[in-house]
Amino acid sequence: MQCMNTTAQKILITGGAGFIGSHVVRRMVTLYPQYQIFNLDALTYAGNLENLRDIEDAPNYTFLKADITDQEAINALFEAHGFTSVIHLAAESHVDRSIIDPLVFIKTNVMGTAVLLNAARQSWKGAYEGKRFYHVSTDEVYGSLGETGFFTEETPYDPRSPYSASKASSDHLVRAYHHTYGLPVVVSNCSNNYGSHHFPEKLIPLMINNIRNNKPLPVYGKGDNIRDWLFVEDHARAIDVIFHNGKNGDTYNIGGFNEWKNIDLVKTLCAIMDKKLGREAGTSEKLITYVTDRPGHDHRYAIDATKLNKELGWEPSLQFEEGLEKTVDWYLTNEAWVKNVTSGAYQQYYDKQYHER
Ligand code: NAD
Ligand code: DAU
Repeated sequence: MQCMNTTAQKILITGGAGFIGSHVVRRMVTLYPQYQIFNLDALTYAGNLENLRDIEDAPNYTFLKADITDQEAINALFEAHGFTSVIHLAAESHVDRSIIDPLVFIKTNVMGTAVLLNAARQSWKGAYEGKRFYHVSTDEVYGSLGETGFFTEETPYDPRSPYSASKASSDHLVRAYHHTYGLPVVVSNCSNNYGSHHFPEKLIPLMINNIRNNKPLPVYGKGDNIRDWLFVEDHARAIDVIFHNGKNGDTYNIGGFNEWKNIDLVKTLCAIMDKKLGREAGTSEKLITYVTDRPGHDHRYAIDATKLNKELGWEPSLQFEEGLEKTVDWYLTNEAWVKNVTSGAYQQYYDKQYHER
């Protein structure tokens, strides 16, 4: 095990205005006042500075608006600020959007990662002591499981959507920079996250928003696909642990040991929401509508996070039902946030995805 030098870190966090990134930024800014945290984000439809209002005035926090595919701009920021580490989350992250428009995923996820790797390599010039490039990735790179088995760090890559193929490419590039140039990298592959500030294009926040508004609940196919859900703050804590104690060149799988069929999850959400909204039990379930399946829909994801537990002592902290309740409460008390992100372009995307196919 190795420990990052904990003084004088200048950490570049990319994608910090997004869902997971905002939880990582908040954690690093509040737990480590001795670090300078730079949040670099292009503020695409998925990036929202409202997610960080509570910490935006912290003396160790700086926001940088930039696009990770712009090599000149990224080089200039490394030059100006002298980042000592990178925690790279910026990405196009929604599978359905990658099916509609794959090229933007390849540009951001593949080229953007290559640009950051280049900039780090140029800036650090082989003086790698105390440096780290942490790449945040997904379990989807491993493909799809049948009814049994788990993804381990040794599972061969088998990505099956434009999104997962672009993330797999970026993982390969990160490892290639380690093997070829000795860049000190670490990679983690995590399962499905849920929690506050999750953009309502993804299953859980979309269902919460539609239940709230008495709109149909679009379940793909038969609803029997399985995902392994992890509370986003547990993911942020895993990233913290791996950033500080992970071994250079290594990969860590992160997961919730918490598999749910989509339809069971949607029904559980309906039951929670009926209670919270004072509706008669069974009311929201009537909104469930089976719709055309996602093309190439991966059947099952399940992560074996034993390595992370055994080597670095991490484990999930929250039971799923408790996490779901917390998440529902957040959405019900933050209606203005939801209204803001679902106005305008969201409606066009929603119509294209759910009404025009
Ligand atoms: P998100 O879509 O909520 O946020 C992505 C952020 O990246 C946004 O703030 C966006 O503005 C920014 N961004 C996009 N393109 C950019 C560009 N060209 N330059 C700079 N910034 C750009 O994503 P998320 O769900 O928070 O996922 C974050 C990371 O974690 C991604 O790399 C994703 O692959 C990975 N991941 C996500 C999950 C999940 O369940 N959501 C699970 C495992 C891994
Ligand atoms: O596994 C990690 C991945 O999890 C991350 O890398 C991705 O960034 C993240 O978006 C997520 O991908 P999924 O495709 O699993 O998540 P999503 O919320 O889009 O879908 C979850 C499941 O619910 C999936 O089986 C498809 C289904 N679904 C989704 C939506 C949006 C529906 O049935 N209806 C829907 O409307």
